[in-house]
Amino acid sequence: MTLWGGRFKDPLSEIAFRFSSSLDVDKRLFREDIAGSVAHVHMLGAQGILTADEVSALAGALEAVRKDIESGGLNPKGAEDIHSFIEEELRRRIGEVAGKLHTGRSRNDQIALDERLYIRAAVQSLTAALKRLQRTLLEQAERHADTILPGFTHLQHAQPVLLAHHLLAYVEMLARDSSRFADCLRRANLSPLGAGAAAGTSFLLDRKRVADELGFDGIVANSMDAVSDRDALIEFVSDAAIAMVHLSRLAEELVLWSSSEFGFCEIADAFTTGSSLMPQKKNPDMAELIRGKSSRVIGDLVALLTLLKGLPLAYNRDLQEDKPPLFDAHDTLESSLLVLSEMLAHVTFGTERMRNAANEGYTTATDLAEYLVRKGMAFRDAHRAAGEIVRYAIESRKPLSQLTFDEFRRFAPLAESDVLSAVDVPQSIQQKKSAGSTSPAEVLRQISFWRSQLQ
Ligand code: ARG
Repeated sequence: MTLWGGRFKDPLSEIAFRFSSSLDVDKRLFREDIAGSVAHVHMLGAQGILTADEVSALAGALEAVRKDIESGGLNPKGAEDIHSFIEEELRRRIGEVAGKLHTGRSRNDQIALDERLYIRAAVQSLTAALKRLQRTLLEQAERHADTILPGFTHLQHAQPVLLAHHLLAYVEMLARDSSRFADCLRRANLSPLGAGAAAGTSFLLDRKRVADELGFDGIVANSMDAVSDRDALIEFVSDAAIAMVHLSRLAEELVLWSSSEFGFCEIADAFTTGSSLMPQKKNPDMAELIRGKSSRVIGDLVALLTLLKGLPLAYNRDLQEDKPPLFDAHDTLESSLLVLSEMLAHVTFGTERMRNAANEGYTTATDLAEYLVRKGMAFRDAHRAAGEIVRYAIESRKPLSQLTFDEFRRFAPLAESDVLSAVDVPQSIQQKKSAGSTSPAEVLRQISFWRSQLQ
């Protein structure tokens, strides 16, 4: 049975019904849907539109349906969508009075409400999951407050950095991800209920009361906007896509660093897989999957943007297609955060390999140039002299730290005996002074800042 038979002579064809039913997807909104219905019923009672008996019959049956779906005793199937299913189930349980539930309401404002409630809960759990990954990163950073590795630009050795500094860069990214979700919620946490199909209703509904009961900050002001826009979803999925891109970059580093060429880390057995053919293999599949799943969430965002872009106001059935990308983006981000947190907690860093690598590739050439500036050269001249020294060192197959004082002097007469400590890798890190740099003092400051933030 459908909710709209009166105008039709013939029933919907079986294939059209199956094609258009969204129940398999939207049944996961049953809690939100029932919470919205209960608040609607309470309000109808307070406004004198329903009697107290009708209110208690409807609200009681709605709660009972919720409990039965939760316990698995009732499995939503055979209806057009979750709204139809619940109303049909109410009719089975309490008869005719079930038909009064939908007074002053449309599925158009109902689904918009369900989705906003869903986003609110999703933001809460994602924020907790983001925080959990931040904590894991922070714990590894604390463990590696003096582990040195080469920082890369263009994937070429650039300058020595502390591993803690590298990891804390991700803590910053994830903090912005959380704040984007909070910002999304600021706009999304408004109730569309009472907008009806598009034009509002002739019943004197108390929209504000419904909004308050459901914990919204207010109501969506325009009824047409309330039922037709989905920018709350676009924003949520966009925030999820940005977060997934951050996770993907971290996952990529785990893939790269765990290769034998790098040897910068080892992922625990519990988070790696073998090959069905090559017995020696230990593959970073979880990290690769996180990298791969980020493209799914980007696809979810594109799906929503293209779904909306050509739609005239107000509600169009196209909008039913908004749920798979919303759910997929949420599920994918949440499971990726969980796996990455657990996996990262069980990564062992190859500190010796990192330290040795930091000594290769002339990573302190910039420190040499800055040293010469301190001795009185203009930066451009110092840069050229340091470049000549690097070229000479490459030709003589020596690292900068093994050049003699005289060799430095040949290219930079201003150099004094302390030049040797200027090109020392640990010194390079010690000497950093700018705020936000990789100097040990700055890194310890960041660690204690995040420790207090993430408590
Ligand atoms: N299942 C629909 C959706 O998700 C419900 C909205 C109302 N449907 C309708 N034909 N007006 O968009």
